Amino acid sequence: MTDYHSLCQNVTGLIDGVPHLIANLANASAAAWQAIEDINWVGFYLMEDGRLVLGPFQGKPACIEIALHRGVCGAAVTTGETQLVEDVREFPGHVACDAASRSEVVVPIRARGEIVAVLDVDSATVGRFTEADKTGLEQLAAVVERELAELW
Ligand code: SME
Repeated sequence: MTDYHSLCQNVTGLIDGVPHLIANLANASAAAWQAIEDINWVGFYLMEDGRLVLGPFQGKPACIEIALHRGVCGAAVTTGETQLVEDVREFPGHVACDAASRSEVVVPIRARGEIVAVLDVDSATVGRFTEADKTGLEQLAAVVERELAELW
């Protein structure tokens, strides 16, 4: 099981007081990649001109732009809620950046009351993510929101 408390502490230590948005998101994704087992992708998509654009991540090269009406990432933005998908093959409009991905969690990240990014975590295992993972990833997203509030 992932120790999300340690991961959040680690990420806080890495990004606290660092005035560089992209560098901080890069270090946050690297720390998450090291800490979360059985994943094949973790990273951020950033809101830009009404669509999501690929940000810092770990894993295979990924889709560059995602329209908000598409995929799990788009659903996280349009609903404003975390998406936990047990089997992406059953999710209408899923964007298959890596054909190996089977399950996924996407958490919206806000600044000044608006969604500015999403945290996306994928696994090649069906049903990999539990409610505990969802809660832990929401805590990680909250660290990013708090620490980077002034940088978006
Ligand atoms: N699967 C996502 C797209 C992003 S990648 O998996 C990295 C989606 O359906 O939104």
